[in-house]
Amino acid sequence: MDRNMTGKTVQSAPGGKLLEVKDLRVSFFTPAGEVKAVGGISYDLDHGEVMGIVGESGSGKSQEAYSIMGLLQSPGKVVGGSITFEGRDVLAFSEEEMTQFRGSEVAMIFQNPMTCLNPVYTVGDQLIEALKAHDKSISREAAAKRAMEMLELVGINNVRKRMKQYPHEFSGGMRQRVMIAMGLICHPKLLIADEPTTALDVTIQAQILELMKDLQKKTRMGIIFITHNLGVVAEICDKVSVMYAGRIVEQGPVDDIFYRPGHPYTMGLLRSMPRVDAESYERLIPIEGTPVDMLDPPEGCPFAPRCEKCMKICLKRMPPYVELGDGHRAACWLRVEDQIGQKREEDGIHG
Ligand SMILES: Nc1ncnc2c1ncn2[C@@H]1O[C@H](COP(=O)(O)OP(=O)(O)OP(=O)(O)O)[C@@H](O)[C@H]1O
Ligand code: SF4
Ligand SMILES: [Mg+2]
Repeated sequence: MDRNMTGKTVQSAPGGKLLEVKDLRVSFFTPAGEVKAVGGISYDLDHGEVMGIVGESGSGKSQEAYSIMGLLQSPGKVVGGSITFEGRDVLAFSEEEMTQFRGSEVAMIFQNPMTCLNPVYTVGDQLIEALKAHDKSISREAAAKRAMEMLELVGINNVRKRMKQYPHEFSGGMRQRVMIAMGLICHPKLLIADEPTTALDVTIQAQILELMKDLQKKTRMGIIFITHNLGVVAEICDKVSVMYAGRIVEQGPVDDIFYRPGHPYTMGLLRSMPRVDAESYERLIPIEGTPVDMLDPPEGCPFAPRCEKCMKICLKRMPPYVELGDGHRAACWLRVEDQIGQKREEDGIHG
């Protein structure tokens, strides 16, 4: 076993990325037509890396995450692209392989803990079951011991008593902690956290983020942190993907996104942030204009109807990605123009 919650012996798997997503496309086939919820996104994640996915409601963040977990609900389908986890093709997994993958290598925590906690079983039983599903040879006693250690690790006191309680006997913040414990008990290599703190009050959000940061350092797991909240991104992420209308419009290291944004949507997100300091956990004020109708997206840049810098070409053609720095790229015609201008200048100097 290469993972250890106490952080003593942790090795990355040999070579390669933890996760590689290439040109992933997800559509919902509804009576009204095909809704392209995720329209071709690509990114990768190293072992131990934390990536934030930000974007407004409906931009495709959760459907993208469900695709990795094999949890897309009908009529949603992956219609293109690939998901590779430590070199293995996730989209080709059998149902059994996917269940195994979910239980042991990747875990997801949700905005609402009751999505994954069963109200009719005690918290202890659920943690023990999660462990036993992952490791059939573990005794009930050993599993109970691990479960209690895990609850302590996420900051729950009185664990013996807590193990015998039902989810409704926990406060919102404590339930969130239980869900994190459920997610982490099998030591996943990748944790996908989908808005896990949004419903909580600010102090508890801060505590839970601290806890996740701490666990991440100890275990070197990779994390995909989905959020509307740029304060959270600044706090825990190494890099960020900004999603708009099912696409990643900009991605890059967290400092590039905050201090050198290249896409007008990212700039708008930053402007609409109430405070940019790390202690702020306030939510974004929405950017003016309405989100794209995913049933009938515009022909060119999806942000064009809301973009104050929109040019003619933006209405006709989808902008390509432009590399802005190491691992930093944005899909915007303005950045293409910058590049052309720069090239002309260089040609002028050297010509
Ligand atoms: N059951 C469904 N039927 C049709 N379309 C769907 C369905 N579920 C999701 N979608 C489409 O997928 C798009 C992306 O949804 P997703 O849940 O990924 O958004 P999100 O970015 O996670 O939003 P939020 O921040 O509100 O959670 C939606 O805008 C919608 O068009
Ligand atoms: S491509 Fe055009 S419309 Fe789209 S974000 Fe850039 S400037 Fe705005
Ligand atoms: Mg969502």
